[in-house]
Amino acid sequence: MRQWNQFLEPYKQAVDELKVKLKGLRAQYELEEVHTPVEFVTGRVKPLASIYDKTLEKGIPFEPLPELAAELPDIAGLRVMCQFVDDIETVAARLRLRKDLEVVEERNYIAHKKPSGYRSYHMIIKYPVQTIHGERTILAEIQIRTLAMNFWASIEHTLNYKYEGEMPEDIRLRLERAAEAAFRLDEEMSQIRDEIQDAQQYFSAFKESATRSYQEKKRKKR
Ligand code: GTP
Ligand code: MG
Repeated sequence: MRQWNQFLEPYKQAVDELKVKLKGLRAQYELEEVHTPVEFVTGRVKPLASIYDKTLEKGIPFEPLPELAAELPDIAGLRVMCQFVDDIETVAARLRLRKDLEVVEERNYIAHKKPSGYRSYHMIIKYPVQTIHGERTILAEIQIRTLAMNFWASIEHTLNYKYEGEMPEDIRLRLERAAEAAFRLDEEMSQIRDEIQDAQQYFSAFKESATRSYQEKKRKKR
């Protein structure tokens, strides 16, 4: 058990640090922009039981530990939730530019949704953790998704767990329809957002020209 806790410690450290950093992204956007692409952030270290289940499922050895670490990139997992689909790329682009982590793999389950209906943007990163034995670089998974994608995925996950992967056909069909509805919700929200932005731009252009003609008139009067 001690060996396990030692193995998992850097992952805990990484999750804690990355949560602070990703929430920091939100704080900075809030200060400087009207819209922040980060709505909220969560993180977890995969519980030992889930790590074990996954090794059985994937047929990978539980030990040696370095091998396990290389085969399971989501022992440390972070989630970034966004309001709009476009925000996902904004966050992903930010992460690619960072000097404190290295993106080693990207999977776009938004352009290519999974057969289940799952949508999300995944990044596997290398992240260095400072330990009392020196620097340890670990792998972590960052999932970036909209609130609607998250809503769907969390419910599908719960149902999958409940039915232990043997989902009844009618539930599976309903989940498919729900995934479709979540997709349309995202689209609808993006359109509303675009229209609001257009209206704002129009309004600020209008304000500018009104101010200019007002100043013009005043100047002529003098
Ligand atoms: P698994 O799909 O979990 O075997 O891992 P993988 O190595 O194939 O990576 P993938 O990118 O497919 O999935 C990694 C993670 O994405 C999972 O641990 C889940 O958190 C999430 N995920 C992937 N597919 C689904 C899905 O169909 N439903 C839900 N709810 N989550 C999913
Ligand atoms: Mg998979």
